[in-house]
Amino acid sequence: MWFESNSEHPLTALITGGSVGLGLAMARDLASAGWRVFICARTEADLKAAVEHEPRLTAIHADVTSEADRTRMFAEIARQTGGRPLDCLINNAAIVQAHDYQNPFTLKADRARLEIEINLAAPIEMIRLYLARRQDAPQTKAAIVNVGTPGALFPLDANLLYSATKSGLHMFTLGLRRHLAGSVVKVIEVFPPALDTGLARQLDVASQAANGPDVIAAVARETVAGILDGVEIIRPHAEARQICAAFPDPDPAFVEQINAGVKRRAGWDSE
Ligand SMILES: NC(=O)c1ccc[n+]([C@@H]2O[C@H](COP(=O)([O-])OP(=O)(O)OC[C@H]3O[C@@H](n4cnc5c(N)ncnc54)[C@H](OP(=O)(O)O)[C@@H]3O)[C@@H](O)[C@H]2O)c1
Repeated sequence: MWFESNSEHPLTALITGGSVGLGLAMARDLASAGWRVFICARTEADLKAAVEHEPRLTAIHADVTSEADRTRMFAEIARQTGGRPLDCLINNAAIVQAHDYQNPFTLKADRARLEIEINLAAPIEMIRLYLARRQDAPQTKAAIVNVGTPGALFPLDANLLYSATKSGLHMFTLGLRRHLAGSVVKVIEVFPPALDTGLARQLDVASQAANGPDVIAAVARETVAGILDGVEIIRPHAEARQICAAFPDPDPAFVEQINAGVKRRAGWDSE
C-alpha cells in the first residue's frame, strides 16, 4: 500500500472534472475508501447532482483553465483541511473535439487553444501549484495522477488535438516522474479504454458503446485500487492494455544515456 489511512484525519484528493463520468466514479470510490474528496467542474448543475448522489464529496465550482480559479481551489481546499496539503491530485478534466485539417470548419478559426489549455496547460499548472504548496509541508506520501489515454501514443485521426494534447501530457508525466524520483510524490498515469461518457460527443466510437456503466465502474475501481497501491502505470482494461502494448515507452537506459549529455547550466534558476 502506498497510502495508509490515518486515524487523525482522512486522506484528501482533488479530482478535476469529478462531476460526471470516470472522474465521478473515481470520486465515489475514494470517498467509500474513507477519503475526503474534492471535485471541480464548470457546470454547477452536474456538481450539485454529484454531491446529491454522493454527499461525502465536496464540490468546488472552478474552470481549470482559469488561473484565478486554480489558485482559489487550492486555497479553498487548504482552508477546509486546516492547512494540510492535499495527498492526491488527480488531473482528470479533459475535452475532445473533432478536427480535420482539410475541412473549412477546422481551418476557419482557432479551436485548438481550448483543448490545449484544458488537456495540457491546466494539468501542468495544477501540478506546479500542488508541488509549490507541498514544499514546506510535512513530507507525507502523495501522488499526482494524470488521466491519460492510449490515444496519447498514436495519432487519432478524428480528434487529433486530443491525441496531441494527451501525448504532451504523457511526455510531461514521464519526465515529471524522473524529476520526482526518490521523493514522496508518486507520479501515476492512467490509460482508460474508450468509455461511454459525455466526453466524445463529436465522435462515433465503435467500442465506446460497449463500455457503459459497468465498465466505467470497473475501470474506476481498478484505477483507485492502483492509486492506493502507488502503481505508476495503470491500464485498467484489456482494450487499453492491448493498445498500450503496441506502443512501448522509450527504453529507460537509452533515455538516461541521452539525458547524461544535456545538463542545466549553473545559474539557470536565478532571474
Ligand atoms: N471516455 C473515454 O472514452 C476516455 C478514454 C480514455 C481516457 N479518458 C480520459 O478520462 C478522463 C475523464 O473522461 P470522461 O470520459 O469521464 O469525460 P466526461 O464524462 O466528459 O467528464 C469530463 C469532466 O471534465 C470536466 N471539465 C472539462 N473541462 C473542464 C474545465 N475547463 N474545468 C474544469 N472541469 C472541466 C467536465 O465538467 P464541465 O464540462 O462541467 O467542466 C467533466 O466533469 C479524461 O481525462 C479523458 O481524457 C476518457
